Amino acid sequence: MVGRKKIGLIFAFVVIQICCAHNISRQNFPKGFVFGTASSAYQYEGAVNVDGRGSTIWDKFAHSFGKVIDFSNADVAVDQYHLYPGDIQLMKDMGMDAYRFSISWARIFPNGTGEINQAGIVHYNNLINALLVNGIEPYVTIYHWDLPQSLEDRYTGWLDPQIIKDYAIYAETCFKEFGDRVKSWITFNEPHTFAIQGYDVGLQAPGRCSILLHGFCRAGNSATEPYIVGHNVLLSHAAAVGIYKKKYQPTQGGSIGISLDSFWYEPKTNHSDDIEATKRALDFNLGWFMEPLILGDYPNSMKTRVGSRLPRFSQAESSKLKGSFDFIGINHYTTWYANANNTNLIGVLLNDSLADSGTSTLPFIDGKPIADRANSIWLYIVPQGIRSLMNYIREKYGNPLVIITENGMDDGNSPFVSIKDALKDTERIKYHNDYLTNLLAAIVEDGCNVKGYFVWSLLDNWEWAAGFSSRFGLYYVDYNDKLKKRYAKDSVKWFKIFLSH
Ligand SMILES: *[C@@H]1O[C@H](CO)[C@@H](O)[C@H](O)[C@H]1NC(C)=O
Ligand SMILES: *[C@@H]1O[C@H](CO)[C@@H](O)[C@H](O)[C@H]1NC(C)=O
Ligand SMILES: *[C@@H]1O[C@H](CO)[C@@H](O)[C@H](O)[C@H]1NC(C)=O
Ligand SMILES: *[C@@H]1O[C@H](CO)[C@@H](O)[C@H](O)[C@H]1NC(C)=O
Ligand SMILES: *[C@@H]1O[C@H](CO)[C@@H](O)[C@H](O)[C@H]1NC(C)=O
Repeated sequence: MVGRKKIGLIFAFVVIQICCAHNISRQNFPKGFVFGTASSAYQYEGAVNVDGRGSTIWDKFAHSFGKVIDFSNADVAVDQYHLYPGDIQLMKDMGMDAYRFSISWARIFPNGTGEINQAGIVHYNNLINALLVNGIEPYVTIYHWDLPQSLEDRYTGWLDPQIIKDYAIYAETCFKEFGDRVKSWITFNEPHTFAIQGYDVGLQAPGRCSILLHGFCRAGNSATEPYIVGHNVLLSHAAAVGIYKKKYQPTQGGSIGISLDSFWYEPKTNHSDDIEATKRALDFNLGWFMEPLILGDYPNSMKTRVGSRLPRFSQAESSKLKGSFDFIGINHYTTWYANANNTNLIGVLLNDSLADSGTSTLPFIDGKPIADRANSIWLYIVPQGIRSLMNYIREKYGNPLVIITENGMDDGNSPFVSIKDALKDTERIKYHNDYLTNLLAAIVEDGCNVKGYFVWSLLDNWEWAAGFSSRFGLYYVDYNDKLKKRYAKDSVKWFKIFLSH
């Protein structure tokens, strides 16, 4: 028998669940949980020829004809190089705790190596100091895709192991110059994405690939280069973390991690082939970088399927990689289906990491989308995916400390939508509300060890090959008005309430 009191309690519980399900706030999250917004140097700074900055692979790529969908480039971007004081007020006004930005390697070392460019150091000192004065904690990404062009010219950048030494010197320079004030370091942003987009499908800098029988890129090898790049990135990460832990962390007392991107994948059917394929999709997306950090080696599925094309770690490298982080940053946006596909045609036409994975991933089943879509063709809105991904990481990788270093959605940049209408971003509010609700459940109900959440992005900005066509910002940037004006979208008001309760 269930007593009347108990029924009353259950009733109250249900009412609370219903009434407040849409009104989560920061007080529901564990104490010390960090909320922030995220950005990157190349997408935000502009000022590409200012104060001695060197050229980067993205300057070259963006200025190559036909690489960016709206024929734009990031020479000015959203001019945060000059406008950062105002942008910091926007963060402060929202009540954000932290700001994730990246340092442009080519501002510190215009040629990748050699003499330090003092003007670059001064700029980041000013930015960091201005954040701290306003009570905003800097989270600094050391490498967010903008490799100095001279390293690409000198030895093909990430394809050559020389990069490990040069990256380590650059990273150490950052620790030395800024580590007295920067307490959260991210060695790399999304190595999986830049290995695939830059060296497998060629849609991002440096635009190398061999897919479609070499019909798409001038040079490259999609069957080998993504793995070589990934390998050199992992070893560069381990080198930087080793230096930080030995020489800087004991006195500076900060923490260091890496930001890995991962979709969540649902099996297209419950057939065992598709369930296996789904595990492989996660291995080739997240495990590729996660497993070396946790276990010191690549996932078995990759070793088996890629064979001798997958570089190997020596004993010493493996033990240096294992445990080389204080936290794992996760950039998560969307969920797709995965199914087994070992079609010969894919092997011949692509002969790349997708073919190696033996998995097709798609956001549809029989033309029916998995969920509503944002503006980006890949971004389907599946809030429970973040909970599944957090639990997968908890179970498979021993519940490491995770920070969501990116999560967000974009609207299109339409000349037919007035600024007034563009500010009404109801879908973005729902997106963050629903993803945060699922993240909270992963933490509170499932025991996932998550300590922070960064919105991508503070401002509308230059979205790589999508140029200015995609608006991910909480603040709207008026590209017709010299970028000087930022307007709060409704999601800013939502975050303001969320963060003040
Ligand atoms: C709850 O959230 C909705 C949607 O954001 C808002 O309209 C409403 O005012 C909020 N209620 C409270 C009590 O904050
Ligand atoms: C960068 O390299 C170029 C050509 O190799 C050289 O002329 C220039 O002085 C170098 N600049 C710096 C800051 O090292
Ligand atoms: C697979 O099985 C799960 C659990 O039994 C079920 O929830 C899901 O709907 C099934 N998926 C498909 C595509 O049949
Ligand atoms: C496998 O991929 C090929 C080529 O893209 C496609 O034609 C085929 O329908 C796919 N098979 C399955 C089972 O998804
Ligand atoms: C795929 O590329 C690798 C590396 O270049 C090569 O050894 C292999 O023969 C290629 N396979 C096919 C099916 O073309």
